[in-house]
Amino acid sequence: MKESCYRMRKLIFVPLINKIATMTTIKKIALGKNGPLVSKLGLGCMRMSPVWGGPKNDENESIATIQQALDSGINFLNTGDFYGSGHNELLVGKAIKGRRDDAFISVKFGAIFYGNQMLGLDLRPIAIKNFINYSLVRLGIDTIDLYQPCRLDNSVPVEDVIGTVADLIKEGKVRHLGVSEITADQLRKVNSIHPVTALEIGYSLADRQIESDLLPTAKELGIGVVAFANTAEGLLTGEMKAPLPANAYHHHFSRFQGDNLVKNLEKVEILKQMAKEKGYTPTQLAIAWVNAQGDHIMPLVSMSRRSRLPENIAAMEIAFTPDEMNTLNTHFSAGAILGETYLQR
Ligand SMILES: NC(=O)c1ccc[n+]([C@@H]2O[C@H](COP(=O)([O-])OP(=O)(O)OC[C@H]3O[C@@H](n4cnc5c(N)ncnc54)[C@H](OP(=O)(O)O)[C@@H]3O)[C@@H](O)[C@H]2O)c1
Repeated sequence: MKESCYRMRKLIFVPLINKIATMTTIKKIALGKNGPLVSKLGLGCMRMSPVWGGPKNDENESIATIQQALDSGINFLNTGDFYGSGHNELLVGKAIKGRRDDAFISVKFGAIFYGNQMLGLDLRPIAIKNFINYSLVRLGIDTIDLYQPCRLDNSVPVEDVIGTVADLIKEGKVRHLGVSEITADQLRKVNSIHPVTALEIGYSLADRQIESDLLPTAKELGIGVVAFANTAEGLLTGEMKAPLPANAYHHHFSRFQGDNLVKNLEKVEILKQMAKEKGYTPTQLAIAWVNAQGDHIMPLVSMSRRSRLPENIAAMEIAFTPDEMNTLNTHFSAGAILGETYLQR
């Protein structure tokens, strides 16, 4: 009986919700203290371009996805000048042509790639001034809304890195300063040099280490949180099976190796079960959980095809009962998912 109810709900209710989602306007939030208004759901464009050896997705479909996202009220678009060696910015530029005001463009800089290999960072002021001009040309715009070093290191004093972005803000080439994947101490330091509008950071049911210090620091300082990797490299989609295909890039990370993968997939069964009971997909619950962590937290989700949009937009409407939240927080407590990814903290 329960099973047939679930099937009915899935057949009728889920497509209906997805249909409504395409017509729903996404809620807007202020990014950081008195910050710019952005959609509560962001579109990550990285996987539309070949990065880390990933496939190059269909360009027309990628552009159509960005445009449909804008039509649906998702204005926050995330790219990086090193995503596909500029390919990603060119793509975003094509998608927003003629509708600049519909989009809020977030760009990361500083990573130096040779093919699929990351060689390191270049955060010298002279390099940043070079990067920004290339980004503006590729994007076909005069100002980048949010500009952020993709990481920080000790090769260049942080005052010089942030000071350079502050100069770009004065010049009108950039509107707001962001940071990405840094520590709580670094966040305080950067914010003392120039107000930080947003922190871009990996966060999901599978990666919760930032809850102890970085998230409270961002909240205290009034900095918006742009949370990526909500599906934890696909682990939380419920679609992953062991063993992974031989060519999967996941093999590099201990989280997806041997016993770790088997145990981690057992945990995902709990998410799959809850998704089934609620009539949603595990991905929707993974996004909804991030969304529920605070009004200042934006789930930033990669979508390379239009078909992803209704499902992920609908996830923004999902609420959890206290019991459901407790179940998720218990089974996916910090450290419950075994092994590392590139999000080393
Ligand atoms: N600051 C940083 O260091 C950093 C690092 C990584 C990423 N980012 C940014 O954050 C964005 C998101 O990060 P991410 O790509 O690592 O994580 P993600 O959003 O969890 O995406 C991972 C994968 O999930 C797939 N997906 C999306 N919706 C789905 C659904 N409803 N069902 C099943 N699969 C679904 C996407 O596939 P498709 O592509 O096929 O649609 C994508 O390949 C990136 O685009 C990038 O802009 C920032």
